[in-house]
Amino acid sequence: MSGGCARSPRFSVAVIGAVLGAACEESGRTLPDATPDALVDVADDGADATSEVDAEELPGTPIAAEPQRGGDPARGFATLAAGAYVGCGVPAELYPIADQAGVFGDEPPLPGRDGPLPYYLSQFVTASGVEVIGPNCFTCHAGEVAGELVLGAPDNTLDFGGFASQIAQFEGQVALLEDLLEPASYAELVRFADRLSTVAPWVQSAVAGTNPADNLAGILFAHRDPETLAWHDEPLIEPPPQIVLPVDVPPLWRMKKKHAMFYAAAGRGDHARIMMTTATLCVDSREEAAAIDETFGDVRAWILALEAPRWPEETLGPIDRTLASEGEAVFLATCAKCHGTYGASDAEDTYPNLWVHADEVTTDEALALGATHAATRFVDWFNQSFYGETAYLEPQPGYVPPPLDGIWATAPFLHNGSVPTLAALLDSRLRPRYWRRASGWDAEAIGLRFTVSEVGHAEITSANKRFVYDTTLLGHGNGGHFYGDPLSDAERRALLEYLKTL
Ligand code: HEC
Ligand code: HEC
Repeated sequence: MSGGCARSPRFSVAVIGAVLGAACEESGRTLPDATPDALVDVADDGADATSEVDAEELPGTPIAAEPQRGGDPARGFATLAAGAYVGCGVPAELYPIADQAGVFGDEPPLPGRDGPLPYYLSQFVTASGVEVIGPNCFTCHAGEVAGELVLGAPDNTLDFGGFASQIAQFEGQVALLEDLLEPASYAELVRFADRLSTVAPWVQSAVAGTNPADNLAGILFAHRDPETLAWHDEPLIEPPPQIVLPVDVPPLWRMKKKHAMFYAAAGRGDHARIMMTTATLCVDSREEAAAIDETFGDVRAWILALEAPRWPEETLGPIDRTLASEGEAVFLATCAKCHGTYGASDAEDTYPNLWVHADEVTTDEALALGATHAATRFVDWFNQSFYGETAYLEPQPGYVPPPLDGIWATAPFLHNGSVPTLAALLDSRLRPRYWRRASGWDAEAIGLRFTVSEVGHAEITSANKRFVYDTTLLGHGNGGHFYGDPLSDAERRALLEYLKTL
């Protein structure tokens, strides 16, 4: 399990896009009338438990399934591993030099792909014909689970806090390479460095391990013409505030059950189109974007084929089956109405696909309500853009209770990663106000080992304060979701044992 030391994202600030959790105003956008022929309805897989339940009794608002594209998982993996969907990178000829200089660390190669590149980098040819190496989706969407790299697991160790100064350093070195490179390669290097330095001030997370993907999307949208996707050095709409609302990277294996992408249910319509918004970093024309889009039905198919990892009893210790079945009874009585039920196989699972109002779940509301981020302009940008032709963003003032498959492997918890263990999620009295990751993983409390800090950011002067998770910062609150509090200690213990089995 990921230990105490946070990993710097190096060149890997890729992007996600489309992740605007903020904005309470309705965007007023619905799915376009003419659904493209390429969209096949594969969303209704029978895991929909809401249809027969009286809507009045639901703890949240149902999210309807919408038509989705099919695809081929193997081709999807090939795209993820070597596709040009981010659109830029460092010229491949520089890689050996950067590698020798230790820029890329010693992360393992991508399982299932030939070659020595670390898993989070891909080699591809840009629109201008230059062979480059750039970040891929596994920058954020591959993580260590019980000592193994698992594709689709979240990486919650990335430290974006020092990103702006790293990029400034990188920019400073670029000019030195002008004489070394062919003009076309040099132009690509400059383009990559410029994009990274444009976004850098917007991705400086206050706490290492939290992800700035939402702000990243906002600043990239601001610099692009929604119609042509052309990049403009000056923003065309007002950029987002530079204060980053933190998000915890979700595991990708949930997507097979989810009708909406993202914590605040913002991602609607054609999910494959939304998944390709990493292209907002460097894909600068509709033609290029359309070509990438053709490959993303396959990417979605790969994501939908992912299975959550099983609790490895050999390394993490045996599951007490009797206790777990007592926990299952507690779960069915207390939790299932929001999080669904879990059978022996996917086909036996049910999942209600709801979003729950922030006033009901009472977890930190900044992301859902966009307290400081007037995100409506970014939602509008998306919906009026190439991306909005088959998909749309419609963030809700609340959060989706996620499917809990493999939940044990995804600490920290809640949308902002403010709660280090499942034990603390189920008993709010155990949640630390200021905490620091310690090395190792806690198989008892299920999650990150941590030490409590007596002081928060206001009282720490060094830049290392970003290694303290301060739950009093905007968007970092650890309150709410008190559903475990009324249970007895014995019930919570049983419930924890049950959660290991999911
Ligand atoms: C910079 C880190 C980063 C990169 C790179 C990235 N993502 Fe994400 N992704 C995130 C974060 C953070 C979220 C959650 C955002 C939210 O819900 O507000 C997310 C959400 C998602 C979701 C929705 C999951 C859910 O449960 O709702 C999918 C699917 C997804 N990403 C796929 C991809 C794909 C495919 C790529 C590459 C083409 C990619 N991401 C690249 C950080 C990243
Ligand atoms: C009324 C609906 C509701 C009930 C009941 C409920 N939850 Fe949740 N749960 C949510 C919502 C909404 C979230 C997302 C909150 C957020 O991220 O801010 C959530 C988040 C979680 C998470 C964190 C997921 C993650 O990836 O970080 C876990 C674990 C969880 N719930 C377990 C439980 C358990 C166990 C119970 C029963 C004791 C329970 N929940 C009862 C709505 C509910």
